[in-house]
Amino acid sequence: MSSHDATPPTSKRWATIRSGDEPGVIAGAAARLRAGEPVAFPTETVYGLGANAFDPVAVARIFAIKDRPSFDPLIVHIASAADLPGLVTDADAADRRVWTLMERFWPGPLTLVLAKRDVVPRIVTAGLATVGVRMPDHPLALALIREAGVPIAAPSANRFGGISPTRAEHVAHQLGDRIGLIVDGGPCRVGVESTVLMLAGGRAMLLRPGGLPLEAIEAAIGPVHVPSDDAARSMSPGRTTSHYAPAARLVLAAASATPASGGRRVGLLAASEPGRIEAEAVGGPFAAVAVLSHDGDPVEVAARLFDALHELDEAGLEEIVAQPVAEKGLGRAVMDRLRRAAAVRMIP
Ligand code: TXA
Ligand code: MG
Repeated sequence: MSSHDATPPTSKRWATIRSGDEPGVIAGAAARLRAGEPVAFPTETVYGLGANAFDPVAVARIFAIKDRPSFDPLIVHIASAADLPGLVTDADAADRRVWTLMERFWPGPLTLVLAKRDVVPRIVTAGLATVGVRMPDHPLALALIREAGVPIAAPSANRFGGISPTRAEHVAHQLGDRIGLIVDGGPCRVGVESTVLMLAGGRAMLLRPGGLPLEAIEAAIGPVHVPSDDAARSMSPGRTTSHYAPAARLVLAAASATPASGGRRVGLLAASEPGRIEAEAVGGPFAAVAVLSHDGDPVEVAARLFDALHELDEAGLEEIVAQPVAEKGLGRAVMDRLRRAAAVRMIP
């Protein structure tokens, strides 16, 4: 049995809306975050659905709660510029443009996309080598991040395809049956999401216009490339194959239809322990094996997926046989990613 719920709770639960100014509310919300529970909270742009950015399973729950059909990279929220170097590479942390922008515009509606450190789990960045970071300009958000003691990964707190929430009631309307706590900070001051700026590796490119005008950014650091809508979209993962895909040829096959490894260096990406056992009996031996979740819990499968692909890729394989998962809940996102990475599909 897994200790993690496979599906977000539906009936029998309704989010409590608590004013973040009431005593103990921020401390309680922070305790939930540390325990792996996603919590909705206000920022100056829109309400976010936050989770401990260092806890892959808590982050996977965010995707489950939002009903996202595929993974999209999440913005990591910090409470101090001093927290940035712990998340991004030395080279990007030393970029003078980064410090200029942080000094002028943080806290505020500007997300900087920079090369990530290994401590940032791949599920946060949807397998990308970059991470989006911002410091929100909202006293409750900052207090919550500080009290939690960890960076908070958070997308907007709406269901997939829904409208971004700018009041606690909007969050309750969309997610009230799926989360435990909404920290109420009143209406959001900015009301549109943050501006997303790609700076990784010396670039300067606008990925999403938002609450901070481009002109203000250009006045601070000089010209910023504004890609066409299509090009910007192609850099927003979840829509393209440009995100992480293994070097090995990936074959998507059910345990019972596992192709024989036949002396080649083949790795197995098993969805569950029974899946591993059956695949080894049918097609093994495998040069490397990763089991995503002992009992196939979709939240654990999603949380482990990118890491496991990476692990297998490092084993220098010719081929990876990946097992499909049921296409419901987080399973849709997992299958979306596996299909994009797959060269061959032989799901019976
Ligand atoms: O104002 C905001 O940014 C709000 C509040 C809660 O902070 N958050 C928000 O998150 O709008 P979300 O997940 O709804 O949108 C994040 C955007 C997506 O378009 C995503 O593709 C992009 O940021 N993004 C995040 N990390 C990225 C990365 N490493 N590379 C490219 N795009 C990234
Ligand atoms: Mg959003």
